[in-house]
Amino acid sequence: MIKRFIYGNPFNTEAVIKELPIENDTPKYGKLDLSEGFTYTYDMRDDIVFGLGENIRGINKRGYRYVSNCTDDAVHTEDKVSLYGAHNFIIILGEKTFGLFFDTPQKIAFDIGYTRQNELKVTMPEKDVNLYYIEGNSLNDIVKEFRQLIGRSYIPPYWAFGYQQSRWGYRNEEDVRKVLDEYRKNEIPLDAIYLDIDYMKDYKDFTVDTDKFPDFQKLVSDMKKEGIRLVPIIDAGVKIEDGYNVYEEGVAKNYFCKREDGTDFVAGVWPGRTHFPDFLNEDAREWFGEQYKFLLDKGIEGFWNDMNEPAIFYSDEGLSEAFSKIEEYKEDKLDVNSYFEFQNLVKGLLNNPDDYKRFYHNVDGEMICHDKLHNLYGYNMTRAAGEAFERLVPEKRILMFSRSSYIGMHRYGGIWTGDNNSWWSHLLLNIKMMPSLNMCGFLYSGADIGGFGCNTTRDLVLRWLAFGIFTPLMRNHSCSIRPQECYQFEQTVDFKNIIDLRYRLIPYIYSEYMKAVLNDEMYFRPLAFDYPSDSFAIHVEDQLMLGEGMMVTPVYEQNAIGRYVYLPEDMLKVKVTGGKLTEEILQKGHHYIDISLDEVVFFIKKNHLIPICEPALNTEKLDTNNLTLIGYVDDSVSYKLYHDDGMSKDYDRKDNMINIQVENDTVISDCDNINFNLKIKKEI
Ligand code: GLC
Repeated sequence: MIKRFIYGNPFNTEAVIKELPIENDTPKYGKLDLSEGFTYTYDMRDDIVFGLGENIRGINKRGYRYVSNCTDDAVHTEDKVSLYGAHNFIIILGEKTFGLFFDTPQKIAFDIGYTRQNELKVTMPEKDVNLYYIEGNSLNDIVKEFRQLIGRSYIPPYWAFGYQQSRWGYRNEEDVRKVLDEYRKNEIPLDAIYLDIDYMKDYKDFTVDTDKFPDFQKLVSDMKKEGIRLVPIIDAGVKIEDGYNVYEEGVAKNYFCKREDGTDFVAGVWPGRTHFPDFLNEDAREWFGEQYKFLLDKGIEGFWNDMNEPAIFYSDEGLSEAFSKIEEYKEDKLDVNSYFEFQNLVKGLLNNPDDYKRFYHNVDGEMICHDKLHNLYGYNMTRAAGEAFERLVPEKRILMFSRSSYIGMHRYGGIWTGDNNSWWSHLLLNIKMMPSLNMCGFLYSGADIGGFGCNTTRDLVLRWLAFGIFTPLMRNHSCSIRPQECYQFEQTVDFKNIIDLRYRLIPYIYSEYMKAVLNDEMYFRPLAFDYPSDSFAIHVEDQLMLGEGMMVTPVYEQNAIGRYVYLPEDMLKVKVTGGKLTEEILQKGHHYIDISLDEVVFFIKKNHLIPICEPALNTEKLDTNNLTLIGYVDDSVSYKLYHDDGMSKDYDRKDNMINIQVENDTVISDCDNINFNLKIKKEI
């Protein structure tokens, strides 16, 4: 049951797809105060608070303060309050269990027992908000209701479930070809190689530097013949340069964000001085979306949208203010206070909040300051692309994920979690963030495996891969000095074995992903969602349920030889060592599980099946017509396998869902094309 309340005059974010009637009263639980801005308070007891999608800290958000304010901040430490997304959905689990979605582009502060340990306080400067109050029979039910409200999550092509390699540093065609050669030499599977900003001519969107990539189209097609997709980056800022068609057209059509005086706002980003396309303007959005055709026509089938918070290194205004301040400092002698001010002057140019007040969007003819709509910018950039793909290539799925996002964007693309570091704590952050993202509709997501910044280590990459094999987006990306591709380390066979396991699990991973999307469910769930009355399970933060039958228990500490695992019920432990699976039934309770660096362990719930296949060098080569069913069964068991061509969009076709039934050691299915081999353990 969802109830909608409106306060003030909220901007229509188009996050939700259902028009619900407006209630006259207030949400059943909690108190509202609209005397100054908007304040919602709720008295917590032992409650656990889930949600907030992309944010720092735990699955349980209690004990800290978070602010929805899409931010380009590359240092995701515990003291931060905002990352790249604004995902204003929370669920409170306690004596009363309910969900709240604050639909407004404003900066919202969620004080979840930070100021006062038992008080949840949600505040925003203006009272303009659509507030949704959601009740359900369970946590899973509440998420489902919410997800039905916001619409079906994005579905990528099948190949995007393969392993993907990226680096900010592939300078030319030769570098790209070398990545594939090395992966092949080491027999490590791979489905995509990413192109960072260096493929462009002077960092101009929708251009290719032909000095570095003399025959781009041929490269794309050569790669495709090998089963590899090239995935170029697109940045939000359009370089100011005479003769550059995207810039000239955008200026001529008034499609860039404007200053109050009507001139186009200038922001310094990677290409130098740029203009920001006005993605909140429907015509500009359509125009920008059309630009992707330039690369689609060259055979490209996937993109990543970046710098779309938007990130601003400096603005013209910011620069001139800083220079005149420096003049002042030159005149006066610096005292200790002005010395620190002076020191921060240049640093403060980056993503300066004042800059967000300096430009405007044209929303249906009304000029609205960016500051008021800031959290919707990345969302609408990705929407521009998603809507264009529907027009340009309606029959095909295109890979798309973004750095910045707001709920609603989940219908057009996934996200990656931005510039993390090669830190063990960021592997743990990745684990904790995944279910929170899923609650908010972002299913196709993943972190930069191995860490984006700082030099990584062999063991961190291995452990991160051992978790990454379970995340829908599985991409190794970095900008560090130390190279991070799997073939750069000793004993590449360990990397191969772990990535092989990803490919073996793809029948399950894809099937569970698709079912989660089609049924508005979560792919990754905290244990609390499946075992709400297990007083230990509800607090577990480092194990996740994956799909209907699996539990993953990653190792995230350096030099660990295994880890403690809590089993909320009897389960089958599957340990994968060098490509060999060994199974053991373990009883409910606490266990120490040995997991060496070259091993992966996962668990299967009783009376559930996991379909697996043989590994292959890429998804195209996977033989998904011969599947082995593994599991732990006391009697009969069934599984619904989602199976389609991985490219078309006829998701709801009845025959995409294959029913598999196992009875008396025999497999019965309604699909004749798939052979099933049974490898189940029986209850002793
Ligand atoms: C941003 C992105 C990162 C990318 C870099 C260069 O920092 O988050 O992934 O490599 O820009 O384009």
